[in-house]
Amino acid sequence: MASGGLTGLLACAAAAAVLALAAPGCGQEEASPGGGAGAGGGEPGAARAYDLSERARAGEALFGANCAACHGPGAAGTDQGPTFIAGVYHPGHHADFAFVRAVSSGVPRHHWSFGDMPPVPGLAEDEVQQIICYVREVQRANGLFSEEAYLGAC
Ligand code: HEC
Repeated sequence: MASGGLTGLLACAAAAAVLALAAPGCGQEEASPGGGAGAGGGEPGAARAYDLSERARAGEALFGANCAACHGPGAAGTDQGPTFIAGVYHPGHHADFAFVRAVSSGVPRHHWSFGDMPPVPGLAEDEVQQIICYVREVQRANGLFSEEAYLGAC
């Protein structure tokens, strides 16, 4: 399965975008003291008050530094890349390996018209897993799934 795929085209373009995290509005959320609703709630768009595991929080920081420039704070998407809070990125459709491969090899434009995703260099294997954990917990908090089995990266 998984026939090779693109070999590091476009390797450097994205690296520049990577440090774009200084903006106001990023990291403003408060750690909801009562412990926000966690899984369930499922209102797409209201993706804010959810609990993240410690590992997902580490992933959130890595996501912020490496992915959010295109995939948005909270994985909510930007005009440069898609949100992951979408059925098409349900773990049953895009398994964890799709994330590993996206990071290492990039993604040719195919689902949307944002363009290609260049590879994201410089992340250790476990850092990518932390990012996946973050994305999965955000997806679950937004009602994309409820099965523990999909939290394998966490
Ligand atoms: C320069 C912008 C950019 C950056 C930075 C970026 N992405 Fe992407 N990513 C995209 C675009 C655009 C797509 C959509 C491609 C399509 O399907 O048309 C995408 C798609 C994906 C997909 C779907 C892959 C598939 O098989 O369809 C995954 C997973 C992904 N990105 C993960 C990540 C992760 C994790 C990071 C950070 C480590 C990241 N991306 C950083 C632009 C970016």
